[in-house]
Amino acid sequence: MSSDEERLKKAGKGTRAVHSGTTSSHNSINTPIFQSSTFFLDDEAYKMWKAGVPRSPVYTRYHNPSTRAVEKKIAQLEEAEEALVFSTGMAAICTTLFTFLGQGDRIVTTRNLYGGTVLTLDQDFVRFGIDVAYVDMKDLDAVEAALKSKETKVLYCETVSNPLLEVSDLPSLANLAKKYGAIPIVDSTFATPISCQPLNFGFEAVIHSVTKLLNGHSDILGGTVAGSKEIIDQIWYKLRNFGGSMDPHQASLLERGIKTLHVRYEASTKTAGELASWLESHPKIEKVIYPGLKSHDDYELCKKIMDTPSTMVCFEVKDDDEAGRKLMDSLNIAAQAVSLGGVESLISMPCSTTHVSWKAEDRLAAGIGPGFIRFSTGLEDSEDLIADFKQALDSL
Ligand SMILES: Cc1ncc(COP(=O)(O)O)c(C=O)c1O
Repeated sequence: MSSDEERLKKAGKGTRAVHSGTTSSHNSINTPIFQSSTFFLDDEAYKMWKAGVPRSPVYTRYHNPSTRAVEKKIAQLEEAEEALVFSTGMAAICTTLFTFLGQGDRIVTTRNLYGGTVLTLDQDFVRFGIDVAYVDMKDLDAVEAALKSKETKVLYCETVSNPLLEVSDLPSLANLAKKYGAIPIVDSTFATPISCQPLNFGFEAVIHSVTKLLNGHSDILGGTVAGSKEIIDQIWYKLRNFGGSMDPHQASLLERGIKTLHVRYEASTKTAGELASWLESHPKIEKVIYPGLKSHDDYELCKKIMDTPSTMVCFEVKDDDEAGRKLMDSLNIAAQAVSLGGVESLISMPCSTTHVSWKAEDRLAAGIGPGFIRFSTGLEDSEDLIADFKQALDSL
């Protein structure tokens, strides 16, 4: 680590977000885009390649100065020794999990995860002979029983779950995983390193879909994993083999996005809190799910493990899904789209998107009641968003 990076370790998150990793060339302020798939092979490169050193500077799937810059920035924000970036969040999740799981191995996880992760676990990890055990992560006794009953390689959860916004008790889950010899891995996409650093609670790898808040502008896909050098070096060999590496141009956009992460996250979270409180008092709203509200089951836990609650707000409109759809159609600011974490507010209903193939009673059992809406708070003015919701609710 350079002396600059050593010094930045002690700096605030904003300073790290702006300066860490950024690599000047020809006196540039920004890291240039090293748009090169391959690099001159000098004696040092030949030597590193022969020795199988991770990130040998020979080929962009192995290493690229633009992706390396953003990896260093993420490592600093997560207070991790190392980080890697990937072409998508799913590439980060699959490459990380397949590093530690093989035929006959077991993962303990929960169904309360991003739907794409559950789909991949059910369709592909199972196909490769991996035992996927689902438990209720909120029930620590059930987690312990699952870990105790059979040797487990990985415990996997999300810091704030998608879409129910349940907060995981990261310190207790990390302790349990370690007690039974499992590697605790978490997807912290909804929390970001600005709010929560899971490695400091004992997790060994923290993953993000950087498509969302880290990049923040809804213009690229990407993923990352951070952890100790030992863990990340093991994952690097699988990244090299599976090939889900990030493109240098994508890395440059991501680096620009992360430089404002702290400002965007704080502003969107403030607006999300104001909107959640306003919605909670509206007669046409059945319930609001937001971990920053006292009415949320995980209010205290959220305060314990997160500096600020999420930019996501979920709520149920009274009556049914049709009322929810009407509300979305009547809004003028938020766009109906999946994804989240961009500067523009996005709104969607799981019953027509991520959970469209589920039966209504299964959705209800999972906590997704009639009229359930997921809202990703952007950077529009809070008063404008609230006024827009008011006119849309009044029109129902
Ligand atoms: C929590 C979470 N993790 C992972 C992913 C997958 O990320 P990507 O779409 O970048 O592959 C998503 C996508 O919505 C997500 O919400």
